[in-house]
Amino acid sequence: MAGAGPVVPAGERATVRLRDDDPQDAPRYAPEWLQLREPADAAARAADLLDPLRIRLAEGPARAGGLAVHDLGCGTGSMGRWLAPRLDGAQHWILHDRDPYLLHFAAVASPRAAADGSGVTVETRRGDVARLTPDALTGASLVTASALLDVLTREEIENLADACADAGCPALLTLSVAGRVELAPADPLDAEITDAFNAHQRRAGLLGPDAVTVAGEAFAARGATVRVRPSPWRLGPGEAALTGQWLRGWVGAAVEQRPELRDRAERYLDALLAACEAGELRVTVHHTDLLALPRPTGGPV
Ligand SMILES: C[S@@+](CC[C@H](N)C(=O)[O-])C[C@H]1O[C@@H](n2cnc3c(N)ncnc32)[C@H](O)[C@@H]1O
Repeated sequence: MAGAGPVVPAGERATVRLRDDDPQDAPRYAPEWLQLREPADAAARAADLLDPLRIRLAEGPARAGGLAVHDLGCGTGSMGRWLAPRLDGAQHWILHDRDPYLLHFAAVASPRAAADGSGVTVETRRGDVARLTPDALTGASLVTASALLDVLTREEIENLADACADAGCPALLTLSVAGRVELAPADPLDAEITDAFNAHQRRAGLLGPDAVTVAGEAFAARGATVRVRPSPWRLGPGEAALTGQWLRGWVGAAVEQRPELRDRAERYLDALLAACEAGELRVTVHHTDLLALPRPTGGPV
């Protein structure tokens, strides 16, 4: 099972494949990893962004079939399972991902009912969300994404902000890595591993921990009101399985970035996994949620 990132075939670097033209050739996220993180994601999401979102959605135009929500990079669909039951009214979710295997999981376990009991329907769309065409979001009431922004480039986020501005719809872009991690007990190697992991995230022009800042600027430049909130994972003994997998991926990416860390990192990882198994480790992995509300249109001139 993959840890904190995609599964990359042995001997191949995500660096190259992430930007590959063929979606079939892109690195894949294991559904087991996405399922493992879903409860921690749900607990971390910034629920106080929902009220301004609900107000904006209630002010929006009524659409046949209810709200049209596009979830970009949906994976196994955890965003919809969290958000659909927190919004009133009928909803139609359009789940986008480049991985057909994950889209299958998302379709099977899709949410069925809104907060007020209205129906929720879904469809899946396979494609590259980094290259949304101008008409891809036509008619959208809302765009969502979760744990996606940090694997995009500046140009791709600008493209996403353009598509949302053209559609005139809000965007709720959640759980982007913030580049900060706290471990208790602390270790002198924590900062070095964090820096190497962040450098790995920024490889080949990907934004990694800079993604939320870039997205906030991109949406604001197009007239949107942008709110950001922290959405940290707070992992303790109850989340040992997730913490262990996350640690393996986190340290592994750091070593891939800085191979000279290998020996020290192996000892460090062994000690962390032992503490995790003994219920003696606490980890805070900082993330950020962003809500962009476009300038209202159609009012009196
Ligand atoms: C970290 S996973 C998050 C999945 C899901 N949103 C969640 O929160 O569980 C990132 C997802 O984005 C998808 N993805 C990444 N880059 C993509 C792209 N350029 N086009 C379409 N899907 C992409 C991956 O296949 C994966 O399902």
